[in-house]
Amino acid sequence: MRISIKDLQKMKKAGLKIPMLTAYDYTTAQILEKSKIPIILVGDSLGQVILGYESTIPVTLNEMIYHAKTVVRATKTTHIVVDLPFLSYQTNNSDAIKNAGKILKETGAQSVKLEGGKEITSTINYLINRGIPVMGHIGLTPQSVHQQGGYGIQGKTAKNAQKIIDDASYLEDSGAYGIVLESIPSQIAKIITDKLSIPTIGIGSGVYCDGQVQVFHDLVGLFDDFKPKHAKRYLELSKLIQESTMNYIDEVNKSEFPSNKESFFITDEELKQIKH
Ligand code: KIV
Repeated sequence: MRISIKDLQKMKKAGLKIPMLTAYDYTTAQILEKSKIPIILVGDSLGQVILGYESTIPVTLNEMIYHAKTVVRATKTTHIVVDLPFLSYQTNNSDAIKNAGKILKETGAQSVKLEGGKEITSTINYLINRGIPVMGHIGLTPQSVHQQGGYGIQGKTAKNAQKIIDDASYLEDSGAYGIVLESIPSQIAKIITDKLSIPTIGIGSGVYCDGQVQVFHDLVGLFDDFKPKHAKRYLELSKLIQESTMNYIDEVNKSEFPSNKESFFITDEELKQIKH
C-alpha cells in the first residue's frame, strides 16, 4: 500500500518531518524508495534537468506522463505526486480535470501539484471535488518566471509576504492537502506552517516547514548548469561520473578493458575445429 495524503497529514500532526525529493526515472525512483523517502515529486523541473530546456514553461503533459510512468513503475509504497505542466490547468477547469485525470489514469500516481495562490483556488476545489488530490505551490512559482521577473526570493516586503500568507490560507480552504513553499523568508514560512493544519513542504524557505523538497540532481551534484543557494550537495556525482568515464576511455585506449574477467571464451577443443 502506498503512503496516502492522509498519512502525510498525520505526519504533520505527529510532529514528524516530511522529506521529499524529485525523481524523473525508474533507476532513481528505485533508489529513493529503498532510502524510505515517503513522497517523490515528478517535478516539471525535469524540463531543465533532464530535457535541457531553459525553464519549465515548454514542458508538455506527455513529457510529464512519460517520466511519471517510470517513477510509478519503480515504486510500491512511496507517494507519487506529479506536476501539472504550464497551461495544462490555468486555462479552465475542464482542461484541468481532463489533464490531471489523464496523469492519474495513465501513470498510476496518487496526486498532482499545481502552482498559484488565490487565483487558482476554484480549480483546486474543482479537482478535489472530483476525486483528485492536489498539492499547492506558492512563493516562487517557476511557471510564472516571466511574471515574477526571475527566480528571486518572494515575500521580502510586508505586502508581498502578507499575500503569500493569505494565499496559503486560501489553498488550505480550497482543499489542498499540502503546500510547497518555494524561496520565501524563513519567518514567513514559519507563520504559514504554524497557521495551517495541512503540511508545508519548503524549498529555500528555511527549517520551520513541515517537510523539505529538493531536486535530486542538486542533492547529489549531478546538474552543473546552476546551483541554487538553498541546495546542499551531499555528493559530487557529476565529477565522479566524469572521473569514471575518463578511466574507462583510458583503459579502452590501452587495451586494459575488457580484461579476461569481463570476457567470454569457448574451449580450445571447440576453437581448434574452426576453419579460418
Ligand atoms: O518541479 C519541481 O522540481 C518543483 C520543486 C522545485 C518543488 O516544483
